[in-house]
Amino acid sequence: MSFDIIRSGRAVLHVTDLEKSRKFYDALGFVETEANEQEIYFRGLEEHNHHSLLLKKKDTPFLEVISYKVRSEEDLDKLAAKLEQDGYKVKWMDQQHAMGRSFRYQDIAGLPVEFYARMDSVERKLQQYDIYKGAKVQRIDHFNCMVSDVEATQDYYMKELGFSCSEYTAGEEEKVWAAWLHRKPSVHDVAFMNGEGPRLHHIGFWLKDPMSLIDGCDVLASMGYGPNIERGPGRHGLSNAFFLYLRDPDGHRIELYNGDYLTSDPDFKPIRWDLDDPMRQTFWGHAAPDCWFEEATEVLDVHSGEKVDKKPAKLKKRKPTFVI
Ligand SMILES: [Fe+2]
Repeated sequence: MSFDIIRSGRAVLHVTDLEKSRKFYDALGFVETEANEQEIYFRGLEEHNHHSLLLKKKDTPFLEVISYKVRSEEDLDKLAAKLEQDGYKVKWMDQQHAMGRSFRYQDIAGLPVEFYARMDSVERKLQQYDIYKGAKVQRIDHFNCMVSDVEATQDYYMKELGFSCSEYTAGEEEKVWAAWLHRKPSVHDVAFMNGEGPRLHHIGFWLKDPMSLIDGCDVLASMGYGPNIERGPGRHGLSNAFFLYLRDPDGHRIELYNGDYLTSDPDFKPIRWDLDDPMRQTFWGHAAPDCWFEEATEVLDVHSGEKVDKKPAKLKKRKPTFVI
């Protein structure tokens, strides 16, 4: 590859009530970098970039874009040229607050995706233990998206964008039902799951330890957010991570995540899970609620700003037992 995608960097979500959202994300221990009447910029405690979660006040909750950081401005130009060569329409963005140049496009699955090379640096709060609270969110870790054709999406991300596969779920005739792909040396920067898509299933944020998951539950429950705890805590088979799934005040799903592993070895072999193996979704065996499989955030077109119509899943519907 002539370009280097570093990692998942930020997500931009539309929310309907900034104050409700602020209270929720503040309870989890996010750091508010700055805000105005229309936007809140959040980051994790160890993050030295300006934000990893941007909330914009709008009438309807949507995913505006998921963003990946690339190594340099030159990488950004080369990647844009490559995508245009492949037939994608690239939209260079006007200067966005606290960021350098960036462009967006609708990816092979119809997801709104953005690339950027530079974001303003801010104070890293890692050792300011006196401000730790809630789940003590450390940094963004991954996106998880529902797409109608997992195999085509996985293929493009691996062959054309340089992603590697850490784990995958295979069903009948070895059809890939879900795939976990990474650029940074962890289990994933993005996962694609078979389903009506394109939709954002969740954004994963990394915690420093499993106890922070429990602390997060305690704080949320004490503040009346018990109903926002959708699934977990538990341990995934796939990725080996501890997880907790939450729904924010607009229904956007956030995963608190800790305990995956190193994937940097060039001879690392992708781990296969069978679709019928219940341990891959929850290692301890307890089932996920139906809403976890059925509900997800709808996405916007980067060019028109309109909602992207969903396509049905390519693989036939069955009781899914995938995860992460
Ligand atoms: Fe996840």
